[in-house]
Amino acid sequence: MILVAGSANLDFITRVPHLPRPGETVLGPAFTTAPGGKGANQAVACARSGHPTRFFGALGDDPYAAPLRASFTHSGVQDTSLTLDAPTGAAFITVADSGENVIAVASGANARLTPDREPDFTDVTHLILQLEIPLPAVQAYARAARQRELQVILNAAPAPQAPLPAGLLADVNVLVVNEGELSTLVGPGDLPQQLRAAQALGPQTVIVTLGGQGAAAVQGDHWLEVPARPVTVRDTTGAGDTFVGVLTGALGAGLSLPQAMQEASVAASLACTREGAQPSMPTRAEIDRALESDPDSDPG
Ligand code: RIB
Ligand code: NA
Repeated sequence: MILVAGSANLDFITRVPHLPRPGETVLGPAFTTAPGGKGANQAVACARSGHPTRFFGALGDDPYAAPLRASFTHSGVQDTSLTLDAPTGAAFITVADSGENVIAVASGANARLTPDREPDFTDVTHLILQLEIPLPAVQAYARAARQRELQVILNAAPAPQAPLPAGLLADVNVLVVNEGELSTLVGPGDLPQQLRAAQALGPQTVIVTLGGQGAAAVQGDHWLEVPARPVTVRDTTGAGDTFVGVLTGALGAGLSLPQAMQEASVAASLACTREGAQPSMPTRAEIDRALESDPDSDPG
């Protein structure tokens, strides 16, 4: 069982011709809503790719929670999230016609997760964490998982606004970041240097997602690269979360890191071709079809 502890947001999405600059107003046709939040997204991606998945987080006691719960049910995620007396998290997402986005998150109930509200670790082998809930909670859940000798996967997203608490990365087995998040954690440098620097902070495996360039990783002394599958990008929202969820499910099923990265990369490419976060995430059958149709998909 994969456990995801993290955020759940209802996403309010506006499509516009280009992203507004500060002070600018840009008009789009009509807003849509979709279930999102990095934690919830990763749980949905993992479950859809075929792995038993549990979610732990906090929703509000309001109508915005219902579509999030419905998406868990629909995707087969075991939902153990709390209902708190606070608004459900909301994300205000602007997507340009290029597929790029900007996101502002109103954390609401997500910000109320505290270290003492521990998730249920029964039957769990892997814990996935992100940085959209309070750091003390992230740190406590990582510690609790590590004490149980579980694998801890941290997606250090969104990029931390302050240095991570000392010791957090020592409890992480696999760190997944994009280039911006990597630079926030270890400063500038070339990619191999930056990955080694991140590894020196604790995680044995560090993966960087590179958008259209695929993904690269260090695992122990090994360097790995996985190309991206070329697709027509419609909306990149949730692509990183798809990568993390599918990667962890594949690792949980016993795949090697190169194989897991390949599956994750293919799944993320599929998520980029469709709108919204959770609605864009592929099923097991879709991932398998894309892997079969991709001549370069055998990472060995
Ligand atoms: O990573 C994408 C997610 O970030 C969106 O679903 C939004 O809710 C924000 O949390
Ligand atoms: Na998407």
